[in-house]
Amino acid sequence: MKLATIAIDGPAASGKSTIGELLARHLDYLYFDTGVMYRAVTWAALARGIPIEDEAAVTELAEQLCIDVVPPTVDDERQYTVLADGADVTWAIRTPEVNAGVSPVSAYPGVRRALVAQQRRVAMGGPVVMVGRDIGTIVLPNADFKLYLDASVEERARRRWREVRARGEEADYEPILISVRRRDEIDSSRDASPLCVADDAIVLDTTAMGIEKVLVQVGRLIEEQE
Ligand code: DC
Repeated sequence: MKLATIAIDGPAASGKSTIGELLARHLDYLYFDTGVMYRAVTWAALARGIPIEDEAAVTELAEQLCIDVVPPTVDDERQYTVLADGADVTWAIRTPEVNAGVSPVSAYPGVRRALVAQQRRVAMGGPVVMVGRDIGTIVLPNADFKLYLDASVEERARRRWREVRARGEEADYEPILISVRRRDEIDSSRDASPLCVADDAIVLDTTAMGIEKVLVQVGRLIEEQE
């Protein structure tokens, strides 16, 4: 395997984290989901009573917060453990409140500057599958393999809804659809590193594909690139 950096981008619930994790495990690469960093900053702002609209305070928080992503410390189906200044926030960063705040937070240029610098340092540490919105365009523009996963907004909302239900939580489909649509809109229209397809990325629409099929296809695409 000659590819050292694999970048996977795409909108919310497009299958990036599931595919990224399986791929990383298969290749024995580090799996790094950059969305957790934006989520951790959002969680910390809410926990400290910092208004999400206060760009200067949220940016300062992003510059100071110590975010660690480590192998799972609890056996509860988590992919990894996320620590924010030492506190386990793995599930706390997945609440509707954080979902609602994370898109505005990730639109702040200073927040992105602080987190992108950390993400590049992670990638320098060894072979990695890095997942996010701007990995192929901004974080790792020289990545060896760039994949952009997409799916219809209805299918992505359905996936999120199933995920929440699988965790034993009550959830209605409609509010999830509205929230995914809203995040798509903010993520794609922001000035700082909007969600877009890198010129040299391979685009895969997974609307009608199960995980297995996506994985086989991605494996094939990677082999072709080697
Ligand atoms: O992938 P996710 O849903 O956990 O991402 C949470 C938010 O973070 C999402 O609204 C967009 C933002 N994000 C980003 O702007 N850049 C990244 N590289 C990863 C996530």
